[in-house]
Amino acid sequence: MEQPNPSIFPHAVILPMPAQGHMKPMLRLAELLCLAGLHVTFVNSDYIQARLLKSMDVAAFCSRLPGFRFESLSDGLPPEHPRAGRLANDLFFSTRSVTKPLFRELLISLGKESGSPPTCVIADGLMSFAVDAAEEVGIPIITFRTYNASCTWVYFHISKLIEEGEIPFQGDKDMDRQITCIPGLESLLRRRDLPGICRLEEIENPVMQYYLSETSAMTRASALIINTFEELEAPVISKLGSLFPKVYTIGPLHTFLKSHIKHSSSPSVSSNGSLWQQDRSCLAWLDSQPSKSVVYVSFGSLVSLTRDQMMEFWYGLVHSGKKFLWVIRPNSIEGEEGVGQTPVEELLEGTKERGFMVGWAPQEEVLGHPSIGGFITHSGWNSTLESLSAGVPVICWPQFSDQLVNSRCVSELWRIGLDMKDTCDRLTIEKMVRDLLEDKREEIIRSANEIARMARESVKEGGSSYCNLEKLINDIRLMCL
Ligand code: UDX
Repeated sequence: MEQPNPSIFPHAVILPMPAQGHMKPMLRLAELLCLAGLHVTFVNSDYIQARLLKSMDVAAFCSRLPGFRFESLSDGLPPEHPRAGRLANDLFFSTRSVTKPLFRELLISLGKESGSPPTCVIADGLMSFAVDAAEEVGIPIITFRTYNASCTWVYFHISKLIEEGEIPFQGDKDMDRQITCIPGLESLLRRRDLPGICRLEEIENPVMQYYLSETSAMTRASALIINTFEELEAPVISKLGSLFPKVYTIGPLHTFLKSHIKHSSSPSVSSNGSLWQQDRSCLAWLDSQPSKSVVYVSFGSLVSLTRDQMMEFWYGLVHSGKKFLWVIRPNSIEGEEGVGQTPVEELLEGTKERGFMVGWAPQEEVLGHPSIGGFITHSGWNSTLESLSAGVPVICWPQFSDQLVNSRCVSELWRIGLDMKDTCDRLTIEKMVRDLLEDKREEIIRSANEIARMARESVKEGGSSYCNLEKLINDIRLMCL
């Protein structure tokens, strides 16, 4: 068997897409690699790094992880540019033109430093310029897609969907039409469950073209990492194995503990990886609530709501009679002239004993709190994984991207929640909250408990994700040959 070269130290350079939902799971992986004794350079955008410096003690984090360092590069956008909602797409093009040469230079300069030159790049599947840069500099590259396996597989079939005439489709026509040309998912997806880009009316749209080229570039990597676990998506994971020499499913990453890594000698350490300051006051409020009585409402880091939509949620929640903890991120309400009359904050003021509002919550702790009975989510993959690991059933209100696929998996495949896709009205919200906490609870909670159990098992010693992470660490070590 091949042995690593003892004179070269394994050193992974990790490049996430500069967004909360991408950076956070990749930072978790970085921590785990460091705890296993590897060197890691984690490359944030300047913008993300500045935010991280405000929300966590970066110096203490780094001092507890020998071999870990942050670097940051420009994302090509001015600091005041909104990096949320549809404007987040601007990052695709600015990073390609501005970050790409900077990243290449960084790889070269790290290679000249004495000590440990980079021996492997792990880059986000939406940052394919890293594949070009790593190839040019001669460093092996692994791609990390932060979506689940099913959605990743769907992205590999976008060209086929175009060839078969399934997309583009006009407006909201025939949205329940079954999509049968994606092997392994023939009976799952309808038109309305396809990723957000499939709703673009023009194939030539630059965002559609971006996703097509990014997805195809991923296959030039020597392996694929996905934050999922075998027991959850086995059939599709094995299909992805036909596109990559190796596929490492190592999720749910957030549940891995230091003790899972054999070679660790560091004290327990973990980042929360939050770009906003967490308001922990909600935990004390949750402590005072009865078991499984509270609905947690959060739409992640990118989704914005109109005032109309906020009002529908507010009415639905209040009329359900249930208590709720609602994350209203700063600047997450679209300022549409003439829409909505009463500020939501004012309405919430009047329902203080029923609802608690924060700007940003310690979400993983919230989902693990015994008072939480359900979660209204936008179905981002991190939020989905966090709720399914905690056994918390969900109501999905997906808006774009992989969220539309995730919510279908949640409601139809895993049966751990209800899908509220393409609607936002108070009566539906009220009914779904009651269904989730009362009328349909028994059936949903049975699947939720079973899936949470499988998630726990996967990261335990000997579990599928545990073993895959060990393989990944070993394979990175072998890249030093
Ligand atoms: C984005 C995309 O929208 C999503 O579809 C994709 O799967 C990943 O990238 P985001 O919208 O931020 O992510 O959603 P999500 O993937 O759920 O990640 C949000 C993260 O922020 C979660 O890890 C969650 O724990 C954290 N969070 C959210 C908090 O810590 N506090 C909050 O109040 C809200």
